Formats: sequence, C-alpha cells, structure tokens
Amino acid sequence: MAGKRKTNKGAMMLGGQSGEVEWDRPDHEFYPTPPEATEALIRAMPHLAGQKIWECACGDGRLARVLEYHGCTVIGTDLIDRGYGEGGVDFLATHRRRASKAITNPPFTLAQAFIEHAMRLHLEEVWMLLKTDYYQAASRTGFKQRIRPKYKLELSWRIDTLALEAPRLTAHGSGSSAISRAAQSGTHWSSRRWVI
Ligand SMILES: C[S@@+](CC[C@H](N)C(=O)[O-])C[C@H]1O[C@@H](n2cnc3c(N)ncnc32)[C@H](O)[C@@H]1O
Repeated sequence: MAGKRKTNKGAMMLGGQSGEVEWDRPDHEFYPTPPEATEALIRAMPHLAGQKIWECACGDGRLARVLEYHGCTVIGTDLIDRGYGEGGVDFLATHRRRASKAITNPPFTLAQAFIEHAMRLHLEEVWMLLKTDYYQAASRTGFKQRIRPKYKLELSWRIDTLALEAPRLTAHGSGSSAISRAAQSGTHWSSRRWVI
C-alpha cells in the first residue's frame, strides 16, 4: 500500500560520521520534498522555469507542483501511484525518455542507480536532491570518478521533512543532514558550486 511504513533499524552514515540511527522508512522511501527546496532550485537556475520536465519519482507531486507553479509542463512518473502523474513506472527499467530534462528527489538508496540510468537515457539535464556529502562517501569513489556533477547547489538550511510526515530520524551521534543538488549536463560533471 502506498505510504505504508516499514521499520528499519541499523547503523548508517549521517553527515559523514557513523552512528547508530533508528528510522522509520516509508514504503519505497517516500519522503516528499518541502516546497522551499524546489523554490531554491528555480531561483538559482531560472532557465528551468517554463520547461518540460520529467519528475521520474514524483511521489504525490510535492516537488512537481512547485515546478508547475513556475510554468513547467511536468511529466510525473513513480513506481507507486500516489495520486500524481503515472504510477507503476519503474524509472530504472524504463527506456523511454518522457522529457529531455529531469528533476527529482530520488529514493536515497537508489540515488546512484537513478543517476546512472539518467546517463544511459542521455538526458540533457538532470537535477537530483542529494545529501550534501553524497559524493564524499568512500564507497562512491569509483562512481564519482565516472560521473561528476557539473553543478552542486548547496542549501544553506536543513530540509525539514519531519513536518511533512516523512522520516522520523533519531540520530545517536552528531552530524549534519544538509542537502545538496547535483546536476548533470552531458557526460562530464565539473566541480563548480553555487551556494543558494
Ligand atoms: C524521496 S521520495 C520523493 C518524492 C518526490 N520526488 C518529491 O520530491 O516529493 C522518492 C520517491 O521515489 C519513488 N520510487 C522508489 N523507487 C522507484 C523507482 N524504481 N522508480 C520510480 N520511482 C521510485 C517512491 O515511490 C517515492 O515516491
């Protein structure tokens, strides 16, 4: 059932420090994006306004509706039908581009697979909401050598998903969970960075 919560407990990396973290993971990692994060992207990258955009893990349309507000035509797809766009579409199995530009907040554990699949689809421009330290993880050394983001836009505040009934995260230990975006353009990603 869409939105049903599963409980996963275990150790994970948070803000670059390892610590025991208890969390409830909503089914298929459904963590809706607060509108201010998408607003920040459009503010920093105004060329996206009015474009045709594929939200390839659109959830209930929380991110997509902000894009629509800025004049975008949004093609929404998601593995699960959450009341926005087309459900039953596994992005990782699709070979049909719905638009040449994609913007999403992907399921965290599938973020690398989402980025790699976006490369295979030869999308012109891809924006993904990722943790700020996403590319610093030692486990992603090979991945970041193959696929480098051209832009990283770093949010100067911490995204509050709690208010949106998304993950309940109890960290034993300290760490930042600031979020950054990475954009792809072509197959080479550079290290330029904008701070929003
Ligand atoms: C973190 S939520 C983000 C939802 C939406 N993008 C937003 O920003 O509000 C991740 C979404 O990815 C969807 N998802 C998980 N695996 C997927 C897959 N293989 N293909 C497409 N969507 C998937 C989940 O159902 C969930 O709605």
